[in-house]
Amino acid sequence: MNQEPFLTVQNVSHVFGEQQKVLTNLSFALPNGGFTALVGPSGVGKSTLVRLLAGLLRPSSGQIQYANGQPPSIGLMFQKDNLMPWRTAYENVRLPLEVQGVANEGVDTVVNKMLNLVGLNGFAQSYPAQLSGGMAQRVALARALVHRPLLLLLDEPFGALDALTRERMGQELLRIWAALPVTVFMVTHSIQEAVLLADEVMVMGGQPAKIAARIQIALPRPRSMEMVGSEQFQQYSRAVRQAIEEEVIGN
Ligand SMILES: Nc1ncnc2c1ncn2[C@@H]1O[C@H](COP(=O)(O)OP(=O)(O)OP(=O)(O)O)[C@@H](O)[C@H]1O
Ligand SMILES: [Mg+2]
Repeated sequence: MNQEPFLTVQNVSHVFGEQQKVLTNLSFALPNGGFTALVGPSGVGKSTLVRLLAGLLRPSSGQIQYANGQPPSIGLMFQKDNLMPWRTAYENVRLPLEVQGVANEGVDTVVNKMLNLVGLNGFAQSYPAQLSGGMAQRVALARALVHRPLLLLLDEPFGALDALTRERMGQELLRIWAALPVTVFMVTHSIQEAVLLADEVMVMGGQPAKIAARIQIALPRPRSMEMVGSEQFQQYSRAVRQAIEEEVIGN
């Protein structure tokens, strides 16, 4: 990872309708190739920020600037897998390429490579209903990455999974992130997940919301579940929890 910003958020505020001010004066940068996690209480404005970064919403004021001047190609993943039930895993992953009008030649290789990367080699022809929750999330992850986006936006991607599957998916995500040139921004409700995966944990709080704290996670990589028990890990987790609680109590 280098420290050059991939994107810069400058004084961004967002108001829904006439007067529902949700975000106020956010300023931060995402380092190129970095992994940033965002935590904060429910309803604070995390998904709104994801939609702003994805270009699905335009900020009411302020700017979002990209290093190369152009909005990058983006991969998006939400809490629910949102797969199309009538399409196989393979056909679901192929969808973004079809939408982009990518010619048929080579598509097969690209889709199969991505299915391999998420560990679903044998399940290309399975339908979503035939997959476990974790496998469906893997298909969704493959679909978010198949067009090789430079920015991956994840909005509570593993929220619907059981704890063990969720841990495994976190490790998978780290493996995939290390294999690709992609900048990751992930919303999560889990402090442990945020600390284990990210280079930096941002805490959002307040009404309207701002970035209340930014905590650099200097744990070595590769990260593994064994680190969770370490004193250093616990210190980071406490720092994040304290920052969240200050925001909740502060309101
Ligand atoms: N399209 C919209 N129109 C009006 N208000 C909206 C819209 N989308 C979100 N909001 C409001 O903005 C606030 C922040 O919502 P947002 O979905 O960003 O929260 P969140 O932090 O992602 O919450 P959660 O953790 O529950 O997913 C909420 O008060 C919500 O009602
Ligand atoms: Mg949300």
